[in-house]
Amino acid sequence: MKITVVGSGYVGLVTGACLAEMGNHVICLDLDDAKIRVLRDGQLPIHEPGLLEVVRRNVEASRLEFTADTDAAIRHGTFQFIAVGTPQGEDGAADLRHVLAAARAIGERMTDYKVIVDKSTVPVGTADQVRATIDAALAERSVALDYAVVSNPEFLKEGAAVDDFMRPDRIVVGADDERAILLMRALYAPFIRNHDRLQLMDVRSAEFTKYAANAMLATRISFMNELALLAEKVGADIEQVRRGIGSDPRIGTHFLYAGAGYGGSCFPKDVKALLRTGQAHGHDLYVLDAVERANERQKQVLAAKVVARFGEDLQGRRFALWGLAFKPGTDDMREAPSRVLIAELLARGAEVVAYDPVAMDEAKRLLGDAPRLRYADSAVAALEGADALVLVTEWREFKSPDFDAIRTRLRAPVVFDGRNLFEPALMRSLGIEYHAIGLATK
Ligand code: UDX
Repeated sequence: MKITVVGSGYVGLVTGACLAEMGNHVICLDLDDAKIRVLRDGQLPIHEPGLLEVVRRNVEASRLEFTADTDAAIRHGTFQFIAVGTPQGEDGAADLRHVLAAARAIGERMTDYKVIVDKSTVPVGTADQVRATIDAALAERSVALDYAVVSNPEFLKEGAAVDDFMRPDRIVVGADDERAILLMRALYAPFIRNHDRLQLMDVRSAEFTKYAANAMLATRISFMNELALLAEKVGADIEQVRRGIGSDPRIGTHFLYAGAGYGGSCFPKDVKALLRTGQAHGHDLYVLDAVERANERQKQVLAAKVVARFGEDLQGRRFALWGLAFKPGTDDMREAPSRVLIAELLARGAEVVAYDPVAMDEAKRLLGDAPRLRYADSAVAALEGADALVLVTEWREFKSPDFDAIRTRLRAPVVFDGRNLFEPALMRSLGIEYHAIGLATK
């Protein structure tokens, strides 16, 4: 089948490449010439495990193309996936400028039946706006054409996006047009051969499902983080509590890890956007409001622990920081807890020596030449002469680190662990002072 993907960012690229992998002919469009050049050169503008191989294989087979030519791209696809960014607007609501520009571009050029698929995360009611935009563009051209607008939110996790797309736990399709439903079923059939995981629903429910999922997941994290801080005060260990409650199938073990707060391109933005939707409808979302506030506090927790240990004034102190990305498997630093920590340590006069397996270029781009911020070539090199190690992202290579190096290269063996990777008893036996999240520290 012929597919156009408008927007070659994270979601658009994964979607386009994975659809091409099943034999479809996909053209990915992006207005950013530089990005298209990078892609045509066989490189990726983002770090995502496994994606480069899928892209190269399908480009090679001429099933996947990249272009900045809007006319040619839109002419191509029966399916027009809209996968452009929906940044947070000034008022917290999702900014639909790019989505509606894509809709207009499609309306100005289409000449036959098309299924317009909203893949970007968009507030309830956006499909209606997309339809209105296309109708207006068609009216200006004085043409009448049949088309469908479908909501098909993505549930991709960064770092596992290719796998999530190829083996989805569900595919949500919001549609009310029979022909479009048939086409969407055909498109996704190869991904769900053995289990029919396509959930068909009305358009607004599909749009809402995406926000509900992310809000629920963010709630779990904030709730665990809140309990973790209380556990510290009452002398309990949140890791043992996590195992204790997770074995109840109604609660479940997944996504229950206390830590340095959630970040990324989705949770913070989607939680804020849903709060705005609530406000717009005069319906306060009390729980979600608290989820957001709890996360703001949580992102400060590591810095607060450092201050509690070393004092308010950190001049002359040096800290090794392991992990800049908002989570392992990505170079994405959007809303990353590491940024809050770095800002706080630098503001208090400390020196920070950071290491991340993939996100250091991104950090340099985002944080520029901050004074007293340096980068190390390896995790061990970052430790040299630092007063303490602060671990922010749970990259695999940090899970069984060189404890000897931690003991000998730091000025004194002090570790702040924002991801609870180590057994406190082990750290004690190694003579390492260990501060984690949700552990009573003695
Ligand atoms: C998320 C959703 O999982 C995905 O379905 C949606 O499409 C986009 O948003 P992603 O942002 O890639 O995906 O990351 P995810 O793995 O969900 O983690 C989000 C944040 O929560 C990270 O900062 C992570 O460190 C944090 N987290 C996650 C915790 O603090 N504790 C947990 O138990 C799980």
